[in-house]
Amino acid sequence: MNYVLSSADKADLIASLARLTACGGLFYRTFYEEFIAADRRIKQLMSDTDSSRRQRILAQSLTFTVLGADGVTAPQELRKLIDSHGPNGLNISADMMMKWRGALLRAVEKHDPEYNNNVEHIWGTAALRLIEHFQPPDA
Ligand code: HEM
Repeated sequence: MNYVLSSADKADLIASLARLTACGGLFYRTFYEEFIAADRRIKQLMSDTDSSRRQRILAQSLTFTVLGADGVTAPQELRKLIDSHGPNGLNISADMMMKWRGALLRAVEKHDPEYNNNVEHIWGTAALRLIEHFQPPDA
């Protein structure tokens, strides 16, 4: 699969991210409520992180999501994250990754005041592209 967005869609994604972060910690809080409610293993894995660390991790994750959305920028740091989340690290499965995406989409829907079908589409596509990096090609 090749979930690549146009540069216009990438610009819309950046604008949406700015609106989401402008609502303070609410967006982050909703994401984590949805994220840990989605799966018992996720709740367990996240239990050692405090809220400021969670917020930092999500902010960094969304930066990677947005940067890579047009298929051009593949951040070097992603390599380290792929290893740390892989079978020799946190061992995050494909279905857990899809729950990360689900939590993100619900938090976007709730907190982007300009939410519409296109906003849903560009976040959904960018998240699929990011998640794809975490899976071996034949997984
Ligand atoms: C179900 C999916 C996921 C779970 C359960 C999960 C869990 C975690 C946990 C527990 C940590 C803290 C590790 C530690 O330092 O003890 C972490 C770190 C991190 N995760 Fe994830 N993660 C998931 C998906 C993702 C995705 C999709 C991204 C996107 C890039 C991501 C980005 C990061 C980043 C940036 C860090 C911080 C790394 C660092 O600076 O130490 N995670 N994750």
